[in-house]
Amino acid sequence: MAVVPSDIEPDEYPAPTGPEPDEYRRVLGHFPTGVTIVTALGPDGPVGLAVNSFTSVSLRPPLVGFFPAHTSGSWPVIRQAGGFCVNILGHHQESLARTFASPGTDRFRDVGMRPAPSTGAPVLLGAVAWLDCTIESITPAGDHDFALARVRAIAADSSRPPLVFHRGRYGTCD
Ligand SMILES: Cc1cc2nc3c(=O)[nH]c(=O)nc-3n(C[C@H](O)[C@H](O)[C@H](O)COP(=O)(O)O)c2cc1C
Repeated sequence: MAVVPSDIEPDEYPAPTGPEPDEYRRVLGHFPTGVTIVTALGPDGPVGLAVNSFTSVSLRPPLVGFFPAHTSGSWPVIRQAGGFCVNILGHHQESLARTFASPGTDRFRDVGMRPAPSTGAPVLLGAVAWLDCTIESITPAGDHDFALARVRAIAADSSRPPLVFHRGRYGTCD
């Protein structure tokens, strides 16, 4: 039997076929996340996309992961590269998040970058933290994949507040 919090009335209970996509997005949007840009160095130059499914997975060994959509154009390049850099954005980088979530633009045009030490993937200047990672495994996960990766190098700049995504809007938490 499904268990629901007593003070939240479900729109439909029990749901016979699961939530509709719009409702699913709306409800899941109540979970606040940080915003990252996952980059890699492909044969034709750098690629990257905005990602909020990034998560820490394991301490020993240090593992992280994210969920690229099967529709992602950057994911096959990242996968082929075998590694990526997770750039955790600051509140001052909202426009970067929008750029890397939009198709058909030169995403790297207005951002400074340097190669990450292990993979050579772009570290975006101004990010509040970055993690240089090599892919350990890829697991199908519905209409996404789960990319599990080992962390090879990290750094953080704690002086700036993070960018936060909540209910379809950008904000911060400091
Ligand atoms: C805040 C935010 C978080 C996102 N998180 C993800 C994610 O975790 N996985 C994903 O595949 N796409 C995610 N997207 C969507 C991609 O950034 C977007 O579809 C992008 O255009 C994909 O680029 P690509 O086709 O070059 O891979 C997110 C978008 C936004 C605005």
